[in-house]
Amino acid sequence: MSNQLLEVHNLNTLYGRSHILHDLSFRLAKGESMSLMGRNGMGKTTTLKSILGIVPPRSGHVYFDGEDISHLPTWKRMRRDIAYVPEGRGMFHNLTVKEHLQMAARPGSNGETKWDYDRVLATFPRLSERLCNLGTELSGGEQQMLAIGRALVTNPRLMILDEATEGLAPLIRQDIWNVIASIRESGISSLVVDKNIKALKGLCDRHVVIVKGKVHFDGSSSELDQNLEKVETALSV
Ligand SMILES: Nc1ncnc2c1ncn2[C@@H]1O[C@H](COP(=O)(O)OP(=O)(O)OP(=O)(O)O)[C@@H](O)[C@H]1O
Ligand SMILES: [Mg+2]
Repeated sequence: MSNQLLEVHNLNTLYGRSHILHDLSFRLAKGESMSLMGRNGMGKTTTLKSILGIVPPRSGHVYFDGEDISHLPTWKRMRRDIAYVPEGRGMFHNLTVKEHLQMAARPGSNGETKWDYDRVLATFPRLSERLCNLGTELSGGEQQMLAIGRALVTNPRLMILDEATEGLAPLIRQDIWNVIASIRESGISSLVVDKNIKALKGLCDRHVVIVKGKVHFDGSSSELDQNLEKVETALSV
């Protein structure tokens, strides 16, 4: 059996005539945590949406745990144990904190329920004080915690996080990094989109940097250190 969890193979994704992803390929091993970095507009969110089928690629394949999921609709891909924390957090306007979590909770496809409502509240004590508030009434940091909690209660094998720390105060940002670290320690693989190279170096095993929809760098944290100048140039505005 392969130890690859996610394989992205030669993706080409377009919006109308704008060709955004160009033969994009990378792999994520089971239990591994991977960062996906790049400047604004380079195609990070488009990569995630292509993996999930939210924006279907023109060509290329996505394999999850050895299965070609390229033809599946988004909800079926997510039922393969992929959880998505979208950019902007995606709170539902009419649901409370409690309802957000209860609605999403389900066992993983192997029947596991390691992450349930109580464990999420124990991980994010601040949410337990706001259970009856609407998701949209929370602060930015609390909304991010809820978005991560809502993903965790689906008991995923892969967590995909898009700019989870964007716009947050440094202390809250650190809280989110700590949670991402504990997700990794609990054995869940993750694909983390962010721009903070320093934080990601400690948090992820492997790093992919994209420039204009093409892989510019793909390597381990120590390879990232050896190529720091090249990577920092690709990320600087
Ligand atoms: N729905 C859309 N229709 C047309 N073009 C789009 C659409 N979504 C994104 N784009 C364009 O595709 C390119 C890649 O966008 P994408 O959102 O993937 O970038 P990103 O790397 O996630 O950027 P950011 O760091 O700002 O979130 C950009 O030029 C963007 O303007
Ligand atoms: Mg984006």
